[in-house]
Amino acid sequence: MNPVPSVEIRVYPNDCDSFGHVNQAAFLSMFERARWEAFTQGPGLDAFVESRAWPAVRKSTVEYLAEALPGDLLKFDTTLTHLGRTSFSLHQAARREADGVLIAEADFVFVCIGESGKPVPVPAEVREFFGTRPSVRAGPVQHLLVRGVATAVDIQGDGPAIVFLHGFPLDRTMWRHLMGPLTGWRRIAVDLRGMGLSDVPESGYDMKSYADELAELLRVLEVEKAVICGLSMGGYIALEMMRSHRGKVRGLILANARAEADSPQARADRDEMIKLVEREGSEGLAEVLLPKLLCPSSLSAMPQVVEHVRTMIANNPDAGVIGAITAMKERADSTPLLADIDVPTLVIAGREDRMIPVELSRAMADQIPGAQFTVIAEAGHLTPMEQPIATSRVIGEFLEALP
Ligand code: MLT
Repeated sequence: MNPVPSVEIRVYPNDCDSFGHVNQAAFLSMFERARWEAFTQGPGLDAFVESRAWPAVRKSTVEYLAEALPGDLLKFDTTLTHLGRTSFSLHQAARREADGVLIAEADFVFVCIGESGKPVPVPAEVREFFGTRPSVRAGPVQHLLVRGVATAVDIQGDGPAIVFLHGFPLDRTMWRHLMGPLTGWRRIAVDLRGMGLSDVPESGYDMKSYADELAELLRVLEVEKAVICGLSMGGYIALEMMRSHRGKVRGLILANARAEADSPQARADRDEMIKLVEREGSEGLAEVLLPKLLCPSSLSAMPQVVEHVRTMIANNPDAGVIGAITAMKERADSTPLLADIDVPTLVIAGREDRMIPVELSRAMADQIPGAQFTVIAEAGHLTPMEQPIATSRVIGEFLEALP
């Protein structure tokens, strides 16, 4: 997936300080050397020179994680994490070749500056070199063939399984802040078909197919039963699991979700959304959805969350997004199911959710026997991203109390 070639750099004694390991200042120049080396395997510096757009580093953040010594061969991987009109961001990771240990990681923000000293567009050749779409950093991803669809999953930890299903039109990385803390569980975050890094088949965009795929994924992973944790559209699929694959569900977590089918107005709105994606692509959809997905304080005070949501949406292939809209529009009413849900259930709402207001989530929880209901403050529709600590605490307590 990563279009930027890896680069190897050998550590020499002059990179090291009097304590004998690579000095922090030397890392900055190694990261720089690795970037330019990678670039010379693509358009080279000429792309910048010819278009008179010099990339200036505006911000760098480096984490030094382990020592590197003279003689070590370090492998530098570079990933594009943001591509704007005049700016771009790169994530770089340096690993020791011999044992794969992560030595240092860095994030750099670049702005292209023209002769006048003002920002100018990122040169076209550079855009091409990166590919058109930046990627979002997340855990190690693997692709599993599930019902003929190459499905991207992050799997972390051991223990009983919990599956995370993302909302629309996002991907598995929306759960990344919850994947770490829930130790003692085998955490499985999935990219639904047509989104994230999963394949984009031409058909099969309906709740039943998403659920069938999930059941098959659990079989492939030899998971007998799992807690299914879905946000919004992921919650619709979790409810479909109860309808079609009840035996696979050990518990349910329904975040920012509702049980009813779409109203006639909501169905008409979905048709308009499909037209928007056909016209402006998922990038256009990102701009329309962002203010609805996040609460005002997240929008103003959490730029990294805003950027992550924008990138997830804009990265998603238009066909997969349209498939998901169609699946939501056609979904069945799950209200009649609720009274028969006989697995432990946690319903989470965001106090400032404008897409699925608290009252709808509360009404759903009220109809599920014994369900717990929690409202998270200062969160809109994407509770686990806007309030990851509060959300992982609530989920952790729910999991701990499971029989
Ligand atoms: C989602 O977050 O998955 C969507 O907002 C759900 C919907 O549009 O019904």
